[in-house]
Amino acid sequence: MADNIFYEFLNQDSVFIDKNKISPHYTPDKLPFRDDQIKDLSMWLSPALKSQKPHNVFIYGKVGTGKTSVVRHVVNQLDQISIENKFPLYPVYLNCRNYQTKYAVLFYCVQLFYPDKNFIGYSRSFIYDKFLTFIKDNKLNFLIILDEIDKIKDKEIDDIIYTLTRSNDELLVGSVSMIGISNNLFFKSRLDPRTKSSLCEQEAVYPPYNAQELREILTQRVNVAFKPGVVTSSAINSAAAFAAKESGDARTAVMFLLKAGEISDRDKLKQVTDVEVLKAKEKVEQEVIKSMVLTLPVQLQLVLLAITHKSDNPKGILKIDGSFEENVLYSGEIYEMYSLLAEKYDEKPVSMRWFREYITELETYGFITTMQSGKGVKGNTTLIKLGVDSKTIQNLLLKEFEA
Ligand SMILES: Nc1ncnc2c1ncn2[C@@H]1O[C@H](COP(=O)(O)OP(=O)(O)OP(=O)(O)O)[C@@H](O)[C@H]1O
Ligand SMILES: [Mg+2]
Repeated sequence: MADNIFYEFLNQDSVFIDKNKISPHYTPDKLPFRDDQIKDLSMWLSPALKSQKPHNVFIYGKVGTGKTSVVRHVVNQLDQISIENKFPLYPVYLNCRNYQTKYAVLFYCVQLFYPDKNFIGYSRSFIYDKFLTFIKDNKLNFLIILDEIDKIKDKEIDDIIYTLTRSNDELLVGSVSMIGISNNLFFKSRLDPRTKSSLCEQEAVYPPYNAQELREILTQRVNVAFKPGVVTSSAINSAAAFAAKESGDARTAVMFLLKAGEISDRDKLKQVTDVEVLKAKEKVEQEVIKSMVLTLPVQLQLVLLAITHKSDNPKGILKIDGSFEENVLYSGEIYEMYSLLAEKYDEKPVSMRWFREYITELETYGFITTMQSGKGVKGNTTLIKLGVDSKTIQNLLLKEFEA
């Protein structure tokens, strides 16, 4: 038994008391600096306490600003009180990354409603009918949370919102409401004006956290996740400052400390200091890029892949004044490469107009920088430069597409 390779881990000293509580998947009971957001959301959902239809809500905010945590916290509380008082609320949470079409969303709900039945292979209209019937028969106030709603396919999104809204016209009893959550600045502009006004009946924008707020959030988590006194205050300050400088993202801040703790354990240290936080930061940044790339919608992944292919052999651009701009690509050549790749991987290529939107979107995420050719280059076109390591991104994406 003494030979077991896990023996060392079993007896290893650790800086953590409950590592789970510093994991980014953990939702703490208290969410400091989100009192106003919690209050607003509770008010918008409160009609459920009178067995009436809650408002539709759209929540936008950058990555790690507490959107999912706040919604889960408020809806859990509402669910609890509804069960106690027998209010007919039926909340369902889903992450649209895993349910990208109207059929997938409705199918998921119907399968939840009737857990003993198997609806595989049934038509769309049958599934929609079952969905309505269950809500009507049970007189439910059905509340669907569509987290990361921007991950729903472009051509399905209006249809989904429209169908869910329209259900209310077909129901004499019961209701259907939705909460949409997104960190995508462009999502709303993609909606048809009518669906936009339905979804955004009530709206909230969650601001990023500043360094002081992140420090408090981290301190609260450190107290429950680490042994007393092992995390130095300079470690907390560094983690908060790094995260505030980059994005005001609480998830990244929490990740910095989790990884720093793991580094201390690995190196058999008794403390977590700013040295481990700095090492952790480098590691986390790699992972953040990876997860950003892998969670982009497929079409954006294809555009990014096209850019990395073209970046392998960048021709650069000779300007009229004779100077040479290195590593710059023409948007036209990327569009051509993108169209070829789309075909290769069985996706329908989008029009040039959508393609331009995607380029803007990739720029907002920091993957590329763009400039107008304007001065010194013939014609007027968008020039694109990759801002991240081409090979890393390409390998990640090829693994996805070739899988
Ligand atoms: N006010 C807060 N207090 C304590 N922890 C927080 C707070 N806000 C966010 N967090 C923590 O940060 C992490 C990310 O939060 P959350 O998942 O809610 O972000 P999000 O806005 O949904 O981000 P994304 O757009 O990436 O989905 C979680 O671990 C959560 O516990
Ligand atoms: Mg979220």
